[in-house]
Amino acid sequence: MWRFFFTAEKRESRVFAEVSPRKLWPLLFSAVKKRPTLSPFNKHNNFSTMAIKNVSVIGAGTMGNGIAHVFAQSGFSVTLIDLNADQLQKALTTIGKNLDRQVAKGSLTEDQKTSTLSNITNSSDIAEGVKNAQLVVEAATENTDLKLKIFKQLDEVAPEGCILATNTSSISITKIAAATKRPELVIGMHFMNPVPVMKLVEIINGYATKKEVTDTIVELSKQLGKVPCAVNDYPGFIANRILMPMINEAIYSLYEGVAGVEEIDTVMKLGMAHPMGPLQLADFIGLDVCHSILKVLHDGFGNPKYAPCPLLVNMVMAGKLGVKSGEGFYKHTAGSKDLVVSDSFLR
Ligand code: CAA
Repeated sequence: MWRFFFTAEKRESRVFAEVSPRKLWPLLFSAVKKRPTLSPFNKHNNFSTMAIKNVSVIGAGTMGNGIAHVFAQSGFSVTLIDLNADQLQKALTTIGKNLDRQVAKGSLTEDQKTSTLSNITNSSDIAEGVKNAQLVVEAATENTDLKLKIFKQLDEVAPEGCILATNTSSISITKIAAATKRPELVIGMHFMNPVPVMKLVEIINGYATKKEVTDTIVELSKQLGKVPCAVNDYPGFIANRILMPMINEAIYSLYEGVAGVEEIDTVMKLGMAHPMGPLQLADFIGLDVCHSILKVLHDGFGNPKYAPCPLLVNMVMAGKLGVKSGEGFYKHTAGSKDLVVSDSFLR
């Protein structure tokens, strides 16, 4: 043991002797000089949430319009970007309706509604839409190739120092960041549906995300009235690593005939105080989305416990995707809140 101690000590002193302070200083100095400018926001090279005023949101679907809504309501100037002009128009109508609902409930005044809407502009061109952004939040379709393409383009057109966030629910932040030349400025900002209602923002640090960027996004989420939770980048992060196995287990319970759709959901709603049962929630999220997140968990961990239930796989192949397709475990009629079990699962 003593021999080991002495050789270890000798090895250590040799390392110090080889890299003497005189040799070390120029190295350190050049490293500091070469450090990339992290942000143009202030001359001391510190990030500041105060400096984030212009936020661009990419994708005008359910999540994108919700994200634009909460930023605009908190006074940020928002550019909502989607290549599809009809989708943009639909998103603005949805935001208007959700604001009306808040006004009717008394949680927002007419004036606040008007100023929220006036904070939103839209664009069908990414380069034009992000040219003044200090933060971009991408909420496009959950498709890896599409997100990599968007981030590569964003890196070319977004201002230097602009933070690039993704609302991905499961794709690796590290992989998305690697498509850019600014991986230290890439971060996950995972909002929950419906965005104006759900308090959580799961903040995901990629392998290279700078601490200052995480701190900025944490503070910014608080400014939106949300509760941020910072986690690290591993498959499913925290939200879906825990939620999706529960949903999958509920589907397995149905598949194996342990109980029917209503019974499974009622047990979880009344027994565990969940606002929706896991099968209703799966319909709400989209069965295709649940399936693809389970595949990310299965591939990422290589553990069979994450394998999507064969019933889920069949339903996705049959196009029974839940609310978005009109049928999943339940039948969904636009405008109706009634829970009607799908004919396939009547007992
Ligand atoms: N915009 C603004 N307000 C909205 C809204 C929207 N889009 N949707 C609902 N609301 C408000 C309503 O006005 C109502 O407000 P008050 O409480 O002030 O009355 C409140 O939300 C409740 O709405 P409803 O009365 O219409 O309906 P509900 O009581 O059935 O609640 C729900 C609806 C909020 C969606 C509730 O069922 C719920 O919390 N469900 C679970 C949602 C959930 O788990 N989301 C996470 C999904 S996972 C995810 O998003 C991420 C992922 O990666 C898969």
